[in-house]
Amino acid sequence: MATYNRAARRNSPTMSRAPEVPPPASSATMRAFVHWIRAAAPYVHAFRGKTFVIAFGGEVVADDSFLGVVHDINLLVSLGIRLVVVHGCRPQVEAILKQQSIPSRYAHGVRVTDVDAMDCVLEAAGQVRARIEALLSLGLAGSPMAGARNRVSAGNYLTAKPMGIVDGVDMQLTGEVRRIDTEAIQQRLDDGDIVLISPLGYSQTGEIFNLTVEEVATQVAVRMNAQKLIFLMETDGVRNGRRQLLSDLSTREAEALLSKPAKLAPDVRLFLPAAIRACDNGVKRAHLISRHHDGALLLELFTRDGVGTMLAATALANIRNATIDDAGGIISIIEPLEEQGVLVRRSRERLESEIERFIVAEYDNHIIGCAALYAFSDERVGELAALAVHPDFQREGYGEALLQEIEQRARKLRLQKLFVLTTKTAHWFLERGFRTGTIADLPQQKQSLYNYRRKSQVYQKPLQ
Ligand code: ARG
Repeated sequence: MATYNRAARRNSPTMSRAPEVPPPASSATMRAFVHWIRAAAPYVHAFRGKTFVIAFGGEVVADDSFLGVVHDINLLVSLGIRLVVVHGCRPQVEAILKQQSIPSRYAHGVRVTDVDAMDCVLEAAGQVRARIEALLSLGLAGSPMAGARNRVSAGNYLTAKPMGIVDGVDMQLTGEVRRIDTEAIQQRLDDGDIVLISPLGYSQTGEIFNLTVEEVATQVAVRMNAQKLIFLMETDGVRNGRRQLLSDLSTREAEALLSKPAKLAPDVRLFLPAAIRACDNGVKRAHLISRHHDGALLLELFTRDGVGTMLAATALANIRNATIDDAGGIISIIEPLEEQGVLVRRSRERLESEIERFIVAEYDNHIIGCAALYAFSDERVGELAALAVHPDFQREGYGEALLQEIEQRARKLRLQKLFVLTTKTAHWFLERGFRTGTIADLPQQKQSLYNYRRKSQVYQKPLQ
């Protein structure tokens, strides 16, 4: 099955750290700058006022490249994104344990925290938190933080309970999230603060529990109804068995990957299940990106294709090429629209002979939407036709996903423009980057077939 993955992406370019003083701009770099900043504008609009949770292990903080992450966090906040940062501190705990010759114990991949280890966890968490707060307080002139006034709030937002005995191992002071004071976090975010959460939880009896960063991040994202949960990892995203980076994944596809014995990077094993849980519980998107790739956060968030793996619960994944067996399903979707005169009538024979131009959206093995691409290769343009979604599934993003898939196919065919003829749904297309065109904009062949009685309007969209 062809999936909706934009997989097999070229390897992401390795970017070097942004120099403090940019090189003298040539007109080409200036044009590129203007182009990119404009291309980011829709994301800036979409993200303002939304809550993002960014999570990473303690190794991220220990690394010099963390400064780049801090610069990007600072920029996100200045764009009006409500930011919750969740950090881990495992390497720092390990270092302190070692210093004090306390053995480190793990069960099921999680630390067994006894009283001695807990002291080390507290020390480590304190160090990491202070370091993050210090970097977020930077404001040196001439640096990306100039003029920044980041206020960081940390607090007793998490109530925890003991993890208990797991498969016969008493996990002691290792705990699980029990309650999150989302109201307090919302208030801090309303005030424009960055909320910083350490992997520690408190109980009503005054105990402290050691929590995992992935659990805290997931629970915070779910309970805060976050738009995004972003994990910074050692690797650049999720790769399939053929080592191809998977750009988009549905939670179902992600589960399938995890269930295979295929080799997955340790970070992916850790964060992907958390990302799935978050998306299945209402977080709109989860992203797994590299912490080593300078600017990865910005590239992921402000470009269409991103640089890592983006996970979503539904829809996106269920787009595939149509086969002859889908003809009946497609007809059931488009027939009512043909009857209403919204779509041009096509016979079953014609549909079957053109089936390879169709894609379908399916839900639970039912066809719930379709679209077709007719390429006019000489003129480098394509027609988007027969775009339809079953009424029960409208406004769930399927139309959008079908359009995106058609656009992607058109780009693969090196088409430069997509057009659509429509009598009814102009707004939908206008909202998605189409602009009015004229009959003269159509490819020759299409012009000669244009049905003047239908009075369809031409809408067109350039493909970059
Ligand atoms: N910038 C967009 C967003 O943050 C799209 C990112 C796509 N990323 C990906 N790995 N496919 O929502």
